[in-house]
Amino acid sequence: MKVIVCCLIIIANISNNGKASLESFAPTGANILFEDNTKNLDHVSCYRPCKFNVKPKRCYYNFKIEPTVQSDDRPAITINGQSPGPPIQACVNDIIVVEVESRVLDQDMSIHWHGIEQKGTPYMDGVPMVTQCPIGYGQTFKYAFVATSPGTFFYHADSVSHHSDGVYGALIINQPQPLEPHSSIYDYDRSKENTLIIAAKMPELLTAKLEDVSKLKPDALIINGDGDIPKIFVMAGFAYRLRLINAIAIECPIILNIDHHEMIVIASDGKPTKPVLARNVELYPGERMDVVVRSTQESGGYWVRVMGNGGCAGVTTKAMLIYSGYNYTSMLEEEQYDIDDTQHVNWESDLVVGGQMLESLQDQSHATEVKPVYLGIDRNVVKVRQEDIDFRYISDAIPKKPYFPAALALRENGVVQINHKNFLYPNVPIMMRPKDVRADMFCNVGEEHKQVEIQCMQVLNAEGGDVLEIALVNEGFGSNDSYTFHMHGYSMQVIATWQNPKDKPISKEDFQALSSNGKIMRNLQNPPFKDTITVPNKGYTIVRIKIDRGGSWLLECRSCALSSLPVAILIRVPQPIPKSVLDSLPKCGSYRPPDVLLN
Ligand SMILES: *[C@@H]1O[C@H](CO)[C@@H](O)[C@H](O)[C@H]1NC(C)=O
Ligand SMILES: *[C@@H]1O[C@H](CO)[C@@H](O)[C@H](O)[C@H]1NC(C)=O
Repeated sequence: MKVIVCCLIIIANISNNGKASLESFAPTGANILFEDNTKNLDHVSCYRPCKFNVKPKRCYYNFKIEPTVQSDDRPAITINGQSPGPPIQACVNDIIVVEVESRVLDQDMSIHWHGIEQKGTPYMDGVPMVTQCPIGYGQTFKYAFVATSPGTFFYHADSVSHHSDGVYGALIINQPQPLEPHSSIYDYDRSKENTLIIAAKMPELLTAKLEDVSKLKPDALIINGDGDIPKIFVMAGFAYRLRLINAIAIECPIILNIDHHEMIVIASDGKPTKPVLARNVELYPGERMDVVVRSTQESGGYWVRVMGNGGCAGVTTKAMLIYSGYNYTSMLEEEQYDIDDTQHVNWESDLVVGGQMLESLQDQSHATEVKPVYLGIDRNVVKVRQEDIDFRYISDAIPKKPYFPAALALRENGVVQINHKNFLYPNVPIMMRPKDVRADMFCNVGEEHKQVEIQCMQVLNAEGGDVLEIALVNEGFGSNDSYTFHMHGYSMQVIATWQNPKDKPISKEDFQALSSNGKIMRNLQNPPFKDTITVPNKGYTIVRIKIDRGGSWLLECRSCALSSLPVAILIRVPQPIPKSVLDSLPKCGSYRPPDVLLN
């Protein structure tokens, strides 16, 4: 009890900032409300009001990743016994240091800092066999990077299965209030209390599962973990900035709305946007959105409703928006009768605002010479010979055995590919040891047909100053799915998103015809900056990336490859790594993953 009291004071002081303290929002005698805030006390060290002209801090975290049985007997992979892991809260220019220890037997781990630019530290991006050696059982890897840009980010295991099984958490970078472009439209920005990180609860662990997991459906959505209903405490008449993170690892867009309240969207993927009023917001997996909610009602408690779509269609979850002094006990009692959440979106009349529709604060309409790149994405049935099922196509970086059924499934359902290839992780981390990568693994984007294997390391070479214009075309011959892509290290300007209203597949020739007939509308006026985009089925999304930093950066479809082969390209920009760094990083090579099946 002593601990809780001490920490309450700390938290109240931090959030205080001259305004009312947290305690005044809680119904009397409800100390338990603060449980969530006290869980991560050892990590509050860097959470503070960000000020000008003060020395940045070093923010240290220790992450111990291990399988844990949750309170409902459900197994999960947790960080320090919890999922989500400790929220990282820092100020711009702080140095974030995270020592990750893996206690997951027979599995390889690495942590990706989703949305972080890794300026000057491209080898901290967390992609096994691209930027680092994977972290094996009992090993540790110390990540360190500078919080260069403010915004709402998150972290997750690079492997989709580990991520889905619980290895993820919020990462928020704050800056001095006067630098926030929209600080005039809200009163409170409490990133610690007012962040909602949304995940999906699967009926079983995906890690090391030997059957095809693509058919698994989540049981439920969860916000800030699988505990009590999260509560956002507000005072009537004030406006609050909320940070929303879709941390679901599979293809599940979510819609969020708040009973009797509108939202103003002010940022997407950590980048400020022109404010837009919304009844509902939509986030694809990996997307983040910052919204402002003004407590316009007199008093009461209101549901924040989250509804899944796509792979999470039909599953929902809730949080509560509670006005100061309101006794919400009755609300919790009612909750059990309020079953059908899906009815709370009226699609006809309620505007749904998504990240790709927003406008950034930066105009880009000046003429630029661009390098066009075509990525044709589709599910293709590939010819796999019997002898090939011996995993020869599977990455050296990923445990092979869980993918065995996928190899079988390839023949029936096909596999999502880019330009008819799947990505092959190299035999050594390419950023550190480019010369040791086997020459036969490479294929250049656009010339993939020269490679006979179905997997190759698809590389797009770029140089500082290049502006890449990448057309991601979801051709739609073999599938009706939409795909979500994430760009590592860079933000992309989204200049076009289009879906064929005739519901007809598009070939490369169709796209080129549209292009040469001037039928492709590019929006260069304030296009949104995003690191996570969706590519509609039988449609396209066109992005521009201005190359200004070296590194080896994945543009990957995280949601395409759950039980199948990786879907990604590697954008390589020359980047010498200092010898001192090379010497200090762990070595690996001729890497052989453990034999999961034989245990
Ligand atoms: C809140 O309401 C419940 C009944 O709905 C009641 O039992 C409880 O005592 C109330 N709490 C306070 C602090 O008034
Ligand atoms: C896509 O949808 C169309 C129309 O509903 C259907 O005829 C077709 O079989 C679907 N294709 C696949 C690959 O599911």
